[in-house]
Amino acid sequence: MLVTQASTTSPPIPHAFLPHQHQVLYRNLGSAGRLKWLNKERRCIKKVGPSTITAKFELKPPPYPLNALEPIMSQETLEYHWGKHHRAYVENLNKQIAGTDLEEMSLENVLVTSYHKGDIIPAFNNAAQVWNHDFFWESMKPGGGGGPSGDLLKLIERDFGSFEKFLDEFKTAAATQFGSGWAWLAYKETRLDVGNAINPAPSDEDKKLVVVKSPNAVNPLVWGYYPLLTIDVWEHAYYLDYQNRRADYISVFMDKLVSWEAVSLRLEQAKAQVEEKEREDERRRQEEEKFTTSEATEEVYLDSDVDADAE
Ligand SMILES: [Fe+2]
Repeated sequence: MLVTQASTTSPPIPHAFLPHQHQVLYRNLGSAGRLKWLNKERRCIKKVGPSTITAKFELKPPPYPLNALEPIMSQETLEYHWGKHHRAYVENLNKQIAGTDLEEMSLENVLVTSYHKGDIIPAFNNAAQVWNHDFFWESMKPGGGGGPSGDLLKLIERDFGSFEKFLDEFKTAAATQFGSGWAWLAYKETRLDVGNAINPAPSDEDKKLVVVKSPNAVNPLVWGYYPLLTIDVWEHAYYLDYQNRRADYISVFMDKLVSWEAVSLRLEQAKAQVEEKEREDERRRQEEEKFTTSEATEEVYLDSDVDADAE
């Protein structure tokens, strides 16, 4: 029997995420097609024995006791799901990254770097599953459910038509994810992920809420989205309580477990990060413009000097 976490009165702190920083990583990886550190990683794994593996990432407990979601999600489910499955992802990830360059990165950067634009390397599945489960526990709270309010509700109504239509879309995504995976509500920028693309000027209408589903460990961070809410639809998430009735599990998750406060806070964080990214882009654009103008001016002076010498 696993030890149940001590009760806490502090509110859950939604998982932080920084999708825009990953673009920098991609740019630094070059265009060779394979990451430079792959060979180094293999070398290091050969050198490092089990006794030298350090625990870089830790198993983070849910922000409530393991019996706090009963009767909707049982303590037994949490003991297996968090205490065994989530724990195994953390332990396996630490073994995989020991002695590699990934060991120096944040969990988010391990996840996106090892995804490698779909040509994944082994650490990805464990890194993503650690992140996904931290995010999943923090997506729920005892006495959750109901509905969103404020800006979140306004965006849901703008982008889905109504909260009821959003619920239908989210439940359908979760129910129709074939096999293991996840369904997500995410905040998406409409930015073109194409080299040399000229992106349109950003506007409020560009930034939309979307519902997406993903197979196995895949997380919308790898597409540059900002995750806001997720439901785990791997069988280990619901089989002890609902057996094969995934639809019942999804319905009760939305009705009784979702922490809309956490989702709202994540939306605010996402919007703030997008605004900061836009300010950075604008600063960079102005600097490039200034540099181009000064270069052109310099050329004019040089041409004038040549003309004067010729006379
Ligand atoms: Fe899970």
